[in-house]
Amino acid sequence: MRIDVVTIFPEYLEPLSVSLVGKARARGQLDVRVHDLREWTHDKHNTVDDTPYGGGPGMVMKPEPWGEALDAVIESGAQGEELPVLVVPTPSGRPFTQELAVELSEKSWLVFTPARYEGIDRRVIEEYGDRLDVREVSIGDYVLAGGEAPVLVMVEAVARLLPGVLGNAESHRDDSFAPGAMADLLEGPVYTKPPEWRDRGIPDVLLSGHHGKIARWRRDEAIRRTVRNRPDLIERADPAAFDKKDREILSILGWGPGPDGRFGRVAPDVEE
Ligand code: ADE
Repeated sequence: MRIDVVTIFPEYLEPLSVSLVGKARARGQLDVRVHDLREWTHDKHNTVDDTPYGGGPGMVMKPEPWGEALDAVIESGAQGEELPVLVVPTPSGRPFTQELAVELSEKSWLVFTPARYEGIDRRVIEEYGDRLDVREVSIGDYVLAGGEAPVLVMVEAVARLLPGVLGNAESHRDDSFAPGAMADLLEGPVYTKPPEWRDRGIPDVLLSGHHGKIARWRRDEAIRRTVRNRPDLIERADPAAFDKKDREILSILGWGPGPDGRFGRVAPDVEE
């Protein structure tokens, strides 16, 4: 996969040389190119922003440098190759989810346009929207000073899904939010050696060697954690995903099916 990032802070993207993403680059699985937007400015001060039409606080990124930068990046693609997907980080975008990470991981080329200030002149998004698949994406309901940190987040989430990037292909099977048996549930707690640490042991079942009991315990813990941290996921879940044992534990935690079959809280929160 090829990834281009156009930014006024190329050094902010240096973490892309480290750890999982850095190794994927070194192995040739990922071709990451970071570009300085100011290279496509022509004035003495390398201006990339200006005051907003209509007034108001803050500054808006000018369209000309973005247009020249994106044209150059797109033109650098090989003849006959697929066009890139343009990913525009913005707090006003669609939520970045594991599902979108999977979808983006199946593309051959992504171009990210992290903005500073109040964002990029709208005409840039419209212009490239006519030619490319453009995704405006938010990594969460909070406002950052710029899109660079969101790019780091999205590139890592996508890169770990590329074939051969994680050592063990099974490693993302049980991820929270991964499709499959544990869909809609958060991952439960994990333990490793030593078996006793500061007088704290580990749950006996994990030492039992009984795979069925271990799987059941893990699922119970996943349900407990999801009820506690993300009750919205239980409310949204397809009730067909809950088996008899799931329903038992949900009932103990004060949850049961409503008139439409979906689960909701039916008893006060159980303190643990
Ligand atoms: N830029 C600023 N805040 C952001 C957010 N939450 N997601 C994506 N891009 C952003």
